[in-house]
Amino acid sequence: MSKTRILTGITTSGTPHLGNYVGAIRPALASAGAADVENFYFLADLHSLIKAQDPAKTQRSTLEIAAAWLACGLDPGHVWFYRQSDVPEITELTWLLTCVAGKGILNRAHAYKAAVDKNRAEGEDDDAGITAGLFMYPVLMAADIMLFNAHKVPVGRDQIQHIEMARDFGQRFNHVYGKEHFVLPEAVIDEQVATLPGLDGRKMSKSYDNTIPLFAPRGELKKLIAGILTDSRAPGEPKDTEGSALFQLYQAFASKEDTAAFAQAFADGIGWGDAKQKLFERIDAEVAPLRETYETLMAKPAEIEAILREGAARLRALHATPALQRLRDAVGLRDLGTAVAVTGEAAAAELKTAPMPAFKQYRDADGKFYFKLVQGERVLLQSVGFDSPRDAGQRVAAIKQGEVGDAASDFHLGEGVSEEEVNAALAAFVAATLEGEGGAA
Ligand code: TRP
Repeated sequence: MSKTRILTGITTSGTPHLGNYVGAIRPALASAGAADVENFYFLADLHSLIKAQDPAKTQRSTLEIAAAWLACGLDPGHVWFYRQSDVPEITELTWLLTCVAGKGILNRAHAYKAAVDKNRAEGEDDDAGITAGLFMYPVLMAADIMLFNAHKVPVGRDQIQHIEMARDFGQRFNHVYGKEHFVLPEAVIDEQVATLPGLDGRKMSKSYDNTIPLFAPRGELKKLIAGILTDSRAPGEPKDTEGSALFQLYQAFASKEDTAAFAQAFADGIGWGDAKQKLFERIDAEVAPLRETYETLMAKPAEIEAILREGAARLRALHATPALQRLRDAVGLRDLGTAVAVTGEAAAAELKTAPMPAFKQYRDADGKFYFKLVQGERVLLQSVGFDSPRDAGQRVAAIKQGEVGDAASDFHLGEGVSEEEVNAALAAFVAATLEGEGGAA
């Protein structure tokens, strides 16, 4: 379990396009399967419901995106690949985290704030048309990550705040329930990954309607590329690579050398038609074999379904179910037949309010000298009788300094007292002595 766990969430909305491929799929799979790493890739279909509420589209998109990742080389035999909604432990954990998540923190989420700002600008009620789903988005995402105690989460810049929130909820949970139940995840931003421009030169995005579908058939791919916005320079005129969507697209699919050659062609006045043909060939060379696999997979949706279900079933058995069981126990959702165990903040509070342990020395009716360790009314340790007060005193001094020695020989545990209790009391005693407060001997 000392492997670094890397977790990637994939929102299942829309049809995968070249921007998704260059910005997410390709880099994510490039780092998959390293020896010291355990990779988790999942389809965030529950998240998609916040925006997409057309059931047919949700189903279609989930299928296309699963097929796209598989076609691009995701190997479900070597990494975890599953669908969020197949792991009910995620939604159950969402509630446990909801109960420690600060509402004020959620109020500050960028997506929620943007929606409120828009309402204000339009003179609407602050929360008009905003669902609790949008508001709770970061908590569900935190559950995705922390159920598996993922260490690293590769994300775009827009997601950094969500990772910070996950850390915050995890920290609160750890604090309230008294130990390191959750690893606090870290966002990983890949500076190398370019944002791909779309047909109109703005960032390629579904919301700008400027995308090139990753698996568009050849003919359509060619047509779309022909439609990329360029300036009106004629063949023979030198062209700028800077600010050219066409050039940036080429760069995302070419080696350094080929990119340099393409830049030279721009300077030499290549015609836009020729440049587009070169770009088409370049993209098609990389995508064509993947497209073929994609089409095969899309023709057998039941196989994709089986892969996802298998992944979730194994993951639940190995990670999710036992993890949630531990968390249920931590918060007190427990078998009522087991003894009540006090843990977490409550235990810490009890320790703080418990009276300081103290050694008492005394002479008994038999004329011998004794000591005992008491905590309030409770006798934790009881010594045998010593012949002189000095002997008893020396023994107490030694114990106070942590030299408990061979316990059974000159003292025994009080009735109903456990060894752990004594150790805790002695530790507190030693700590207090170190702080210079001393103990009442
Ligand atoms: N919010 C992420 C996005 O929009 C998708 C996502 C959902 C995710 N859960 C996640 C990403 C967990 C990483 C980890 O891209």
